[in-house]
Amino acid sequence: MNILDRADEVRVQLQNDLQQAGNDPQAGENLRIKYLGKKGLISALFTEFGSVPTELKKEAGKTLNELKKEAENKIQVLKERLETNTAREDFFDYSLPGLTPNVGHLHPITQSLNRVISIFREIGFGIEFGPEVETDYYNFSALNFADNHPARDMQDTFFIDDNILLRTHTSPIQIRTMLKQKPPIRILAPGRVYRNEAINPRSHCVFHQVEGLYVDENVTFSELKTTLEVFAKRFFGNDVKIRFRPSFFPFTEPSAEVDVSCFICGGKGCRLCKHTGWLEILGCGMVHPNVLKNVGIDPEKYTGYAFGMGIDRTALLKYGINDIRLYFEGDMRFLEQF
Ligand code: PHE
Repeated sequence: MNILDRADEVRVQLQNDLQQAGNDPQAGENLRIKYLGKKGLISALFTEFGSVPTELKKEAGKTLNELKKEAENKIQVLKERLETNTAREDFFDYSLPGLTPNVGHLHPITQSLNRVISIFREIGFGIEFGPEVETDYYNFSALNFADNHPARDMQDTFFIDDNILLRTHTSPIQIRTMLKQKPPIRILAPGRVYRNEAINPRSHCVFHQVEGLYVDENVTFSELKTTLEVFAKRFFGNDVKIRFRPSFFPFTEPSAEVDVSCFICGGKGCRLCKHTGWLEILGCGMVHPNVLKNVGIDPEKYTGYAFGMGIDRTALLKYGINDIRLYFEGDMRFLEQF
């Protein structure tokens, strides 16, 4: 193989190497050394040139010079490309303002729930959860609902089949907790509940409750009253008054509904409180002895109180929201106001 053929080979090899150079910033210098360095492939051809026969010298000299020029140019172009590339990749302008990530916002119901939970945590209540899909037993029977109680009616309850339903209140968590813990029991149970009701600005078929339960020896109704009074003052403000109205729940005896004085008009009467001066916030009572029996707690030894409050309406009142359906639309313009 004469020197001209070898020059051709080197040219092809150079072409391949240039194509495969990639983005390694060192690639340009590596190729320069490989082809044009002292021991490089092209330099070697020049060394060989001395022993080329005279008749070939003219053509060989021209070919080698062209190859050298070509290599110098192409490697230089490669080096420049790699340099500008790396400049772009490494460059970071620290003075540019950052991109603000689009964060969500705590829902007003979540905020109210968190507030209720933190108030009761401070006075020693733990947290319990239960399933949203319940059986008739936990939602009704164990809570002392008679078989023909109207609350089991199709109008209120979403039944999945005869026995399985969407819980209508958080009270089944009372049963689940008392079955697995021994008194003293002091828990708060927040959660979503379902009732088959028409959706309008004041009511929805999905809403949230917080259940409270305290079972121990010598738990009294007056403790229930003071606990709820402390809660109402912390949650709504120091000026609110509360009142208890006799009521009925199958699982408590005696039972009461609790109103707070309207914090908008201070009890004088306004549109929010429908000119009564009072807002209803929860149901409560002393745990019915039948309920204690159902979960194997001796009602002669233990007593307890329970309460359940709706969060959605309470937050509606607290924040002055006029349409309950806004809660479920996920509109950031609404949510960011709280
Ligand atoms: N579970 C009742 C309801 O949904 C509220 C309640 C809870 C009442 C605990 C008394 C005791 O209306």
